[in-house]
Amino acid sequence: MKDVRKDFPILNRTVNGSPLIYLDNAATSQKPKEVVDKIVEYYYKYNSNVHRGIHTLSEESTEMYEGARKLISDFIGADNPREILFTKGTTESLNRIAERWVPANLKRGDVILLSDLEHHSNIIPWQKAAERIGAEINYINTDDNGEITIEEVKKMISDKVKLISISHASNVLGTIVPIKEICKLAHDKGIYVCVDGAQAAPHLKINVQSLGCDFYAFSSHKMLGPMGVGVLWAKEKILKELEPYEYGGGMIDEVSFKNAAWAEIPIRFEAGTPNVSGAVGLGAAVTYLSNIGMDNIRNHEIELSKYLLEGLKEIKGINIIGPREADKRTGLISFYFLNIHSHDIASVLNTLGIAVRSGYHCAMPLHNKLNIPSTVRVSYYLYNTKEELNTLLNGIKKALDILS
Ligand code: ALA
Repeated sequence: MKDVRKDFPILNRTVNGSPLIYLDNAATSQKPKEVVDKIVEYYYKYNSNVHRGIHTLSEESTEMYEGARKLISDFIGADNPREILFTKGTTESLNRIAERWVPANLKRGDVILLSDLEHHSNIIPWQKAAERIGAEINYINTDDNGEITIEEVKKMISDKVKLISISHASNVLGTIVPIKEICKLAHDKGIYVCVDGAQAAPHLKINVQSLGCDFYAFSSHKMLGPMGVGVLWAKEKILKELEPYEYGGGMIDEVSFKNAAWAEIPIRFEAGTPNVSGAVGLGAAVTYLSNIGMDNIRNHEIELSKYLLEGLKEIKGINIIGPREADKRTGLISFYFLNIHSHDIASVLNTLGIAVRSGYHCAMPLHNKLNIPSTVRVSYYLYNTKEELNTLLNGIKKALDILS
């Protein structure tokens, strides 16, 4: 893969006197100059409200906004850009489905199937939706290798299951979940599938049509784009039948003092002034990723995973969680030591300029189930190198010397 580090100005900075080694990409990725420049260009040259004016700036701004929708639609292999709804991020996307689609499609006694590796964002919205309509939630268990097997999914499916909502990749275990197989199994039984793609869209080549899911949610900021914008993709047929979740300007066809009729999709789901610069920035991010090539990024991350797994295994007392095989993970590895808190390790690493995340990573049920107080999570991306991982490994050893 071509050297991309020069595209990310932040990688030149130092932290606590050492060169920054940024290994917290599962929390948010860094942004290449091309993305930042695009956002600046938007504000300097095109800023205007979309879908509202007939003046030149409004037309250009609308073109950029809808152009970004098309880029994102192509990036995830959607049938057409009308299926792309801009949201604040994965969390909002999942909440919207839970708030609007669930009450219209599920009833008391129905079951929503989640898995035990889910982020809180893919648990709590369903808990609340289930509570409101009297539905139940059941969980598919990961196996000893941190994987979701089709056998386990089969075991959990019954006539009552109406929706499976599951991560495409775990933000703690790194596990890649077999979405395509799950969708096939689910659809044979008339079950809908919603995918939390927050940790997968940045790392894997996504094609929602070949995956066969009904909903796919992801965030811009984890895939080189700006914060505060994300996507909910759903099949056009589903969106046409779905009630808007916010009402106001921009999403209507006609309004009277008594009632209103909605605009076409996707606009009917984007009430108010949207995050245009965010969408434009995400458009630039997916263009950047496509130019590098998602397959190249994937291969680079597998190489780093292999290297880091080998290096970590040498460290005495370490417990690595998630799949043992590098190619079954996205670009992250979590681990823990008995009797040493993950925050302490992360703090020592920070003194060396190394950024990792420690704690529960918004996946408390998984940590509780594994009976682990917390973990250190190292998450890498296209700009990380083996040299950086060497510095990390030395840093962990240093932390253990200090803390043991
Ligand atoms: N969901 C993000 C993470 O896993 C913030 O760190």
